Amino acid sequence: MKGAIVQCLGDLVKNSFGNDKWEDSLDKAGMSKKSFFMPLQNVEDEKVLKLIDSLCKVLKVTPAQAADAFGDYWVNVYAPKVYGSYYKGQGSAKDLLMKMDEVHANVTANIPNAHPPRFEYEWKDPKTLIMKYKSQRGLIDILVGLVKGVGKYYKEDLKVTKIGPDRVQVIFPK
Ligand code: HEM
Repeated sequence: MKGAIVQCLGDLVKNSFGNDKWEDSLDKAGMSKKSFFMPLQNVEDEKVLKLIDSLCKVLKVTPAQAADAFGDYWVNVYAPKVYGSYYKGQGSAKDLLMKMDEVHANVTANIPNAHPPRFEYEWKDPKTLIMKYKSQRGLIDILVGLVKGVGKYYKEDLKVTKIGPDRVQVIFPK
């Protein structure tokens, strides 16, 4: 997985819980406490998953709580700074979410060995979107957290529900 994800995770943990907790999480995951991550570097999926597991233990939070915190931080703090251009012209949560398949395909297009998540969209009714998540990583909780983050970014009260291992339902207020 791209180092961007790990860098964002590190910023979140350091800012909200302190540097010690981040170093403890790295240590528990068998990584050097001084590990440093660059957005375009590749970090093995297994290492990232182990790190997430470790930081849940260190911070005493559930994987779903960690996923919500990560989704919020990625969409509202990290991505606007690092990937601001992807938000331009997207005026609503619906606009941004409908762009996400294309964004993930594009952002990793020139990066060897990238395996971005892909999405398929199905409208159940005019306010209800089913996002089908296609990734070998099985990070559906993180997808839920990210979609909630998009609702917060646009100040829209989205109802976000995991309806299966590869499906999230989003009900828009209008
Ligand atoms: C707005 C700017 C965004 C950018 C530039 C972006 C970019 C990325 C990148 C570079 C990765 C790592 C992919 C890899 O290493 O193969 C990633 C992972 C991921 N992104 Fe985004 N993302 C954005 C927003 C979102 C949003 C809003 C969602 C959900 C609706 C989302 C869903 C995911 C998920 C679930 C992953 C985890 C990887 C996986 O499940 O396979 N992203 N994203």
